Amino acid sequence: MKAAVYTKYGPPEVLQLREVPAPTPRGNEILVRVRASTVTSGTIWARSGRHPTPGFSLLLRLAFGIRAPRRQILSYELAGEVEAVGGDVTRFAVGDRVYGTTTGLAAGAYAEYVCVPEEWRQGVTAKMPAEISYAEAAAVPIGAMTALHLLGDAADDGDGQRVLIYGASGSVGSYAVQLALGRGTTVTAVCGPAHVDLVRSIGAAEVIDYTAGDFTRRGDEYDLIFDAVGKISRSQVAGLLAKGGRYRSFKSPTSERAEYLAQPSALLAGGELRALIDRTYPLEEIAEAHRYVELGHKGGNVAIEIGGEAAR
Ligand SMILES: NC(=O)c1ccc[n+]([C@@H]2O[C@H](COP(=O)([O-])OP(=O)(O)OC[C@H]3O[C@@H](n4cnc5c(N)ncnc54)[C@H](OP(=O)(O)O)[C@@H]3O)[C@@H](O)[C@H]2O)c1
Repeated sequence: MKAAVYTKYGPPEVLQLREVPAPTPRGNEILVRVRASTVTSGTIWARSGRHPTPGFSLLLRLAFGIRAPRRQILSYELAGEVEAVGGDVTRFAVGDRVYGTTTGLAAGAYAEYVCVPEEWRQGVTAKMPAEISYAEAAAVPIGAMTALHLLGDAADDGDGQRVLIYGASGSVGSYAVQLALGRGTTVTAVCGPAHVDLVRSIGAAEVIDYTAGDFTRRGDEYDLIFDAVGKISRSQVAGLLAKGGRYRSFKSPTSERAEYLAQPSALLAGGELRALIDRTYPLEEIAEAHRYVELGHKGGNVAIEIGGEAAR
């Protein structure tokens, strides 16, 4: 099968298209014909071996390999169809359209095929909503699960709650805006000038361009401030928190759980949640896709098409 393989950390060019043996599903695994994957900032860090937060690069190398990546096929999100199932699989059948993550597994999704267990501790697999494309489905799991995990029970009493989402145009941020709105809150979103209309299109009541002045001086108050991109600290926004208000940051550890994916699945099927796709690149242009995401200004998500069927 065709896969983007990397044997050393470095710039986007370390991702090389190669022919490698296709995997075979064991007992509780399904073999997925991958149709779409993504480029997230997590994928960028795993490729470069570097993390923007001081001290985190060592942790990253401990997890992924000190000198070179242990797992040579990257990417944590996928959507595709089940091609074969292991003997112990009960939840999936050949032909099912599935999506999920590859967290903690031996190989990622920049490949024509990947094996994933039907259940495991670190990641999730589920049937994808019939209403969306493979590219949209691949762009959901990590961003939406992170947004749900960080929202937690904050703002779940909905009405009257004022929520500020900082970094609203990213993957996590765009899901956080929509999920918080779904709880009946009033959402103020902060993003860059190029994405004001995009963020307005997903329903934010007010959109603030962070280049147009210091929004922390506006004298507004929020019950929840959610930093979706790690660009603002608690102390910078402390003065905007209402009494009893909460601050949540993407730097908290993410948890992947089946119930976190079940909730967006239902909302996507009902059209109440949208996966924003900024650009789609074929696997052959994986280095170009990484270069674009590395600029730090993707609007929503960047999808990778594998085998020419991502829009299906
Ligand atoms: N805790 C976890 O385990 C976990 C899990 C998943 C993701 N994450 C992290 O969550 C973060 C969000 O990921 P992502 O994919 O949504 O976004 P991302 O790709 O890291 O960032 C892109 C977004 O950052 C925004 N941005 C850039 N500079 C900014 C600034 N100075 N102020 C405000 N926004 C700025 C851009 O918006 P504009 O172009 O509009 O400026 C763009 O939408 C990432 O760091 C990701 O790795 C963490």
